[in-house]
Amino acid sequence: MSELRKRQTRSRTPVQTKVTSPEPKSNGSAQNVKAATSFSTLLLLVSCALSAAWWLTVNPRDLPESYAVCSRSGSHIYTVDRNNSVAQCLVVQDSVIADTGYLTRWKQRHAEPLHVRYLEEGSVIVPGLMDSHAHILEYGANAQLPLEGAKTVEDTVAIVRNYILAHPDIIGDKTKIIEGWGWDHTQWPVQEWPTADALDADPIIHGRPVLLHSKDGHAMWISNAAMAAGLPYPDEVEGGIIVRDGDGRPTGTLLDNAHELAPKPTLSEQDLSRRLEATIKDAVARGLTCVHDAGFNPISLDFMHRQSFSSPLQIRIYGMTRFEEHRGYWGNTTKPILNAASGHFTARSVKIFADGERLTLLSQLHDTYHDNVHTKGFMRIDPELLNDIIPRYLADGWQVNVHAIGDYANGIVLDAFEKALVGVDVSAMRPRLEHAQILTQEDMQRIGRLGVIASVQPTHAISDMWFGEERLGPERVKGLYAFRSILDNGARLALGSDFPVEDMNPLSGFYAAVTRLSPDGKSPHGTSGWFPEQRLTREEALRGMTIDSAYASFTEDRLGSIVPGKLADYVVLSRNIMEIPYDEILATKVQATVVDGRPVYGTL
Ligand SMILES: *[C@@H]1O[C@H](CO)[C@@H](O)[C@H](O)[C@H]1NC(C)=O
Ligand SMILES: *[C@@H]1O[C@H](CO)[C@@H](O)[C@H](O)[C@H]1NC(C)=O
Repeated sequence: MSELRKRQTRSRTPVQTKVTSPEPKSNGSAQNVKAATSFSTLLLLVSCALSAAWWLTVNPRDLPESYAVCSRSGSHIYTVDRNNSVAQCLVVQDSVIADTGYLTRWKQRHAEPLHVRYLEEGSVIVPGLMDSHAHILEYGANAQLPLEGAKTVEDTVAIVRNYILAHPDIIGDKTKIIEGWGWDHTQWPVQEWPTADALDADPIIHGRPVLLHSKDGHAMWISNAAMAAGLPYPDEVEGGIIVRDGDGRPTGTLLDNAHELAPKPTLSEQDLSRRLEATIKDAVARGLTCVHDAGFNPISLDFMHRQSFSSPLQIRIYGMTRFEEHRGYWGNTTKPILNAASGHFTARSVKIFADGERLTLLSQLHDTYHDNVHTKGFMRIDPELLNDIIPRYLADGWQVNVHAIGDYANGIVLDAFEKALVGVDVSAMRPRLEHAQILTQEDMQRIGRLGVIASVQPTHAISDMWFGEERLGPERVKGLYAFRSILDNGARLALGSDFPVEDMNPLSGFYAAVTRLSPDGKSPHGTSGWFPEQRLTREEALRGMTIDSAYASFTEDRLGSIVPGKLADYVVLSRNIMEIPYDEILATKVQATVVDGRPVYGTL
């Protein structure tokens, strides 16, 4: 019997389980029995003949309405409250945090016994992790025809061919648009934009419309059939580039706004649902309880809105909706979506693109690139238009989040914010710079003075640290990914990953922010990190992924910290990321992800 019990505990609950009350309060044993479906559980049921009431509660779905989670010794619950205090226990009632602190305190005040679960030795709890900038449906799509890791153009073409061969419905339909994601020509031996002819040279692909998105989402490599749909191309596209050969003929790569020239695939409800499910499955496994989506288009927004009525969303999604110049201003004809899907879906921001992609020659600088004195990059939007629409979106009740990479682009956006914020309470508006990658020293101060939120991605810093100085020169590079300077100037940082552009794992972002080292412990400035003075403390990084991200989505009164009265979103981690050596952070596992007080991943 005791042997059986032990095995049962091990196989079903990685976290030790103990109940101080004789019976869980809300869910009667009948329901527990119904949930006990596996053969071994039934066997155990019979053999124990209901004598051991404690194990009936091992199914995580059967958590009673009220329960506590405690560390056995010491305090290992990082509450991220105002004082960054650390607690021994948290008490959940329904979906809300009822209390934190020592269990004895709760017991003194409440007569009824409390169901308690204990953390494993070494585990900790942090508030539910939030990703402030990511692309939900794109991540899910990425998972379908992933091109990341392809080492050459030929490799990439072969992956597309094999994908077609593996899908009978696609083989038979030569008009179906095939979409793939994640190629990266900077990883190829020949770092040139790929061509339509390279796709069409393959007999299986030949004649089919194919759209292949680059890893960072700014370039689209298309086949001849996909190109034919948009011909003849205009000479120029404002805020975009049509890559051409020596004779001026388009070769098959479209950058930024030139994507408009490509055919639009029609996605079925099932396509979209699959994408959403794939993302949520991975997100909960990594401890994410909330994701800010950096740019729904009309199709994805409508889909998400329908979803929010039809099926429960396991995580919280905070959506930005794109401003697209060809669609015109929509802030006065569309209504924000607030707390749909039981508080799991909100879309109340606009996402505007100021300039091009990160640290290519496309982001707009004040002065020419250090390694290319012929260009300063380019804007994707006319500053006049920016100055026109920003105050209107704000006046119509939308949070305004502007993608800005280059120092010039960031300055232009801050000019527009500054004008729009005169006489306005900034905390009612919470404008954000998405990326805020390269800032001049003056703008570093201005972002703090204005109260603009910097939504930054620490993993971008460790990807780009190897060539940042080459691109920008020794002075300007000091304003690149200068996270501590932004904080020290009084601005708030909301941290994100930009998945699928970078790894979804929030601990990768945490590690990058606190070390400024590659995952194997290297940087151009040695093992203390790239510009080590710009490292964040662990507390600052954790706040950026929890309470400050909540602030950036107007939810700091309900989410972002483990404080009585807030919703019980939290994560159990296998190691104490606030104390272990840096090189152990990435080995930390998520043991449970809890939303509204119930696990959506793992077990308690
Ligand atoms: C934070 O610390 C201050 C000073 O020790 C204390 O007065 C305050 O109650 C604490 N606040 C919280 C939320 O624990
Ligand atoms: C919204 O703004 C546009 C552009 O200024 C204007 O033409 C339109 O009449 C406005 N619509 C509503 C419903 O106010």
